[in-house]
Amino acid sequence: MTILVIGARGGVGRHVVEQLLAVGEPVRASVRDPRARADLPAAADVVTADLTRPDTLRRALDGVRRVFLYAPSAGAEGFAAVAAEAGLERVVLLSSGSVLLPGMERNAIAQEHRAVEDVLSAAGLPWVPVRPLVLASNSLRWAESIRSSGTVRLVHCDAVTAPVHERDVAAVAVTALGVGAEDAVAPDPSSAAVLTGPELISQRRQVEQIGQAIGRTLRIEELSPDQAREHYGRFSDPATVEAILQFLALAATGGSPCTPTVRRVLGRPGHTFEQWARDHAADFG
Ligand SMILES: NC(=O)c1ccc[n+]([C@@H]2O[C@H](COP(=O)([O-])OP(=O)(O)OC[C@H]3O[C@@H](n4cnc5c(N)ncnc54)[C@H](OP(=O)(O)O)[C@@H]3O)[C@@H](O)[C@H]2O)c1
Repeated sequence: MTILVIGARGGVGRHVVEQLLAVGEPVRASVRDPRARADLPAAADVVTADLTRPDTLRRALDGVRRVFLYAPSAGAEGFAAVAAEAGLERVVLLSSGSVLLPGMERNAIAQEHRAVEDVLSAAGLPWVPVRPLVLASNSLRWAESIRSSGTVRLVHCDAVTAPVHERDVAAVAVTALGVGAEDAVAPDPSSAAVLTGPELISQRRQVEQIGQAIGRTLRIEELSPDQAREHYGRFSDPATVEAILQFLALAATGGSPCTPTVRRVLGRPGHTFEQWARDHAADFG
């Protein structure tokens, strides 16, 4: 049974591909640009597909029963229509824990993910959400300034979150695809289904642990929310900047949880941020 991984070069998707291949599952991996095929393992059947171009999805879904779906900000409806025709057994959606988090009802990132979940439900697809709250890989946004100046600009430095390693998110997704433990993960609307890392850790401590992983002492430049708006506004649209600031303000008052979901699903604790920093030392060094 070939499994289609949409977003196969993504931070999570690349681990989904690797983990499926490691247990001998046939994988079809999607890229938008055929030149990116070299980034994927030779054992994967690489297909060119774009969620915003339903014609490309028909080809990608041919002969496929299960799909890992990168949460599309555009293209969810087109995917749902084609997927419904394809008679899939299961779609595992990389969604976001923010859809379940109290206080995030009006947050733009949560609303975007909720909208995608609603589209899959409305199409009658058999879908399973995988809902990480904070990906540890968000810290890769600090890589350039760490490499160039050893400095990280932060708002709410002492806000604590429980960042989850993308490898653990992928492992939960592989389980949800029914590989290894059939039906181990069912759609679960409770907040216990939010995926987090194994420990709460401040942004300040994350920077320290990255510094330890690369053998450098890093500086933190603390920003006010207005300075952060200006700084983040150079990389993200205003709605996303406000959504991030709102989430960090919530985290600064203890609103970002640490859940046992990864351990419950995988039967082992998730990787710590310290481990993530060691795994990614080359990105910061
Ligand atoms: N940051 C967080 O803390 C957090 C928390 C919860 C959920 N999330 C969600 O997780 C997702 C990000 O996951 P990630 O880090 O694995 O992603 P990523 O590294 O940004 O990679 C995105 C992947 O999706 C593919 N893609 C993008 N647009 C596409 C389209 N129109 N058609 C087909 N493929 C498309 C890209 O394919 P190409 O190879 O063709 O470029 C790429 O492989 C986002 O939806 C984000 O909202 C993030």
